[in-house]
Amino acid sequence: MGHMCMTLLSCILITSLIVDAFEPISTSFIGAGACYFGNKLYKYLYETCDVNWIRFNSSNLEVALNKELFGQHVASRVVLKTVTGYMQNPNPKKPLVLSLHGWTGTGKNLMSQLIAESIYHKGMESGFVHLFTATAHFQHQKHLETYKEQLQMWVKGNVTKCPRSMFIFDEMDKMQPGLIDSIKPYLDYYDNLDGVSYRQAIFIFLSNAGGEKIAEVALNFWNAGQEREEIELKDLEMAITLSVFNNKQSGFWHATLIDKHLVDVYVPFLPLEQKHVVQCGLAEMVARKMKPDKEVVERMAQDLNYFPKEHRLFATQGCKVISSRLDYYI
Ligand SMILES: Nc1ncnc2c1ncn2[C@@H]1O[C@H](COP(=O)(O)OP(=O)(O)OP(=O)(O)O)[C@@H](O)[C@H]1O
Ligand SMILES: [Mg+2]
Repeated sequence: MGHMCMTLLSCILITSLIVDAFEPISTSFIGAGACYFGNKLYKYLYETCDVNWIRFNSSNLEVALNKELFGQHVASRVVLKTVTGYMQNPNPKKPLVLSLHGWTGTGKNLMSQLIAESIYHKGMESGFVHLFTATAHFQHQKHLETYKEQLQMWVKGNVTKCPRSMFIFDEMDKMQPGLIDSIKPYLDYYDNLDGVSYRQAIFIFLSNAGGEKIAEVALNFWNAGQEREEIELKDLEMAITLSVFNNKQSGFWHATLIDKHLVDVYVPFLPLEQKHVVQCGLAEMVARKMKPDKEVVERMAQDLNYFPKEHRLFATQGCKVISSRLDYYI
């Protein structure tokens, strides 16, 4: 509000200065021009819920996925297709709900960051992107009812402010049962609820649920002598939904999200191999403005833990420890 006033004030100031110097007809024109410029400047400096700050670019997302996310051909393909389809649909029937699953350190947070960057000019820094983490935001069991209310209000308030809001729920498998139930109506096929439409909103859930099953499928492919790149979404979908259904402990999964088909797509993240860890290491060096050194990175990758023990196929911690580990090797 304060900024708005300032802009308005400067408009008036500029206009009156100009009015003093020129004859009336052209001054109002110039004054309007100054206001227009002020308005532009305001929009440039302060994030607003419009195309100045929110504009989806499918090819940017495609390039980012190809360049920055290693070894996740299934997830990349599924996300690019789903997000593009949804963002290009002027009248979606429900909000977009993605559920990202997989082993630790395989790029789930990175993926949500890339999606945010393809839509919001400010990416994860955008005021319209909201990240919730189970252990940080909803830690205490006894406060469940309060959390539910707060979450509902937060989502409703923010979608009212900007329909194109994004909500990321991290560590879904550590979330208390019932919590996500409180926002379930928002994920459904409603035209509007209390005058608020949620159809432009995007919900992303992140969890490790299904990670072991996904790894099992990847191992089976390897055992059968098939390429990793031959793995398709349909080979993994069952693995995810089964383990998600069967895990009655993990919070939101026995919410009715699954049987009501509110999740548009389950996105599987494959466990990473040593060559992907090497790619992560090289990328990390580039990010630190260092000259990428394959020998150093390979030495580091060699010392990490892999499973199953006898084949050392998949990195136990994915790329998660790379940035801290690298320090020992350079
Ligand atoms: N497939 C990948 N390609 C490139 N970088 C990756 C990939 N996976 C992980 N990383 C890097 O490793 C770090 C951890 O990744 P991220 O936080 O995305 O993992 P995650 O899947 O969310 O893990 P967790 O389940 O433990 O939360 C990040 O710095 C990320 O950039
Ligand atoms: Mg994560």
